[in-house]
Amino acid sequence: MKLTLSLIKADVGSVGGHTKPSERMMACARQEVAHAIGSGLIIDGFVSHTGDDIAVLMSHTRGEGHADIHQFVWKTLLKATEVASEYGLYGAGQDLLTDAPSGNVRGAGPAVAEIEFEHTLSAPRPAESVMVLAADKCGPGAYNLPVYLAFADPMYCAGLMLPQMIKGFRFRIIDMDNRAGDSIIELDAPEDAYRIAALLRDNERFAIDSIYSRTHGQKAVSISAERLHSIAGKYTGKDDPVAIVRNQGIFPAPEELISPFTKAHFVGGDARGSHVMPLMPVPLNTPVTGPYCLPVVSCIGFSVSKQGKFSDSFIDFFANPAWDEVRLRAQAKGIEMRSQGWSGAAMLPYTELEYGGFRDTVGGLLKRFELRKR
Ligand code: 13P
Ligand code: MG
Ligand code: MG
Repeated sequence: MKLTLSLIKADVGSVGGHTKPSERMMACARQEVAHAIGSGLIIDGFVSHTGDDIAVLMSHTRGEGHADIHQFVWKTLLKATEVASEYGLYGAGQDLLTDAPSGNVRGAGPAVAEIEFEHTLSAPRPAESVMVLAADKCGPGAYNLPVYLAFADPMYCAGLMLPQMIKGFRFRIIDMDNRAGDSIIELDAPEDAYRIAALLRDNERFAIDSIYSRTHGQKAVSISAERLHSIAGKYTGKDDPVAIVRNQGIFPAPEELISPFTKAHFVGGDARGSHVMPLMPVPLNTPVTGPYCLPVVSCIGFSVSKQGKFSDSFIDFFANPAWDEVRLRAQAKGIEMRSQGWSGAAMLPYTELEYGGFRDTVGGLLKRFELRKR
């Protein structure tokens, strides 16, 4: 069968500031997903949160961008918003930027990642294993470096030297500055690796949209790459991207995919979406608290049965104690960066400052400048 995995997430309210959704919100979303499984709309579903963002993972046979699936999640997020409003939670409905999108919710605020594939559980995919990543308090290009390294650099993924992967991967990269629509370029690794890097170095403008196996044509990765401030025209919250990544066999193995996250690399985000801070790998359902509001990323894995059901339990990759060391380093890097406060590289450049208010402050002052009399 043709199976589709859809992952849709949004921030629709959180407890005591931008930390995590409430238990009642989570229960509400889980109940809706259980109904959707019961009614046959989806085969399976899983609700989680990373920081203050609720993510709904679904398996179904309706294909990518299907109106019924997207509308179901939109309505679920509206119901969770009602719960958030009732209890006076922070930022109720924050990421639902339009009143009622018709059909597909891409461009309406929620982050969307989807992969459709032929699901036969025979060669070249005798088992289907997938990873689901969700990041909070960071920009849409947060996955650029780690995903590039996993799919284009044998120093991180030695598996690229194997016959199944040696032809490399095709990167679809999106120019998020183009508001006319999805503006995409296709570039092939390894021969275009430097060109890919030339684009992906700019996390605020370019992001990986998807990656395909050049040997098998199959889609390996889908990333939600959109800028909320481009959609809304003003700061409404951070983009907080999600990703679906298929692994093993014809694709990199989990350890090859997650090892670049040991860098805790600096990304745009953090407080008011306007700082440059390290991305900390965290277990699923971790709230964002602590000093600053460090960008965080979760990564879980599922296997998928022949019927398209998720395995009875998931694996939480960043819950392993091996990541404690990375978390400590991320915190140390964050403290170091924040010790220079607002100065220079510690905050995003003027054009990328997510909080429009910062720009208003500077704009007001610009009007007061006068040429010095000679
Ligand atoms: P969220 O988009 O996760 O709500 O982040 C908002 C923010 O500005 C953090 O300070
Ligand atoms: Mg939030
Ligand atoms: Mg968030």
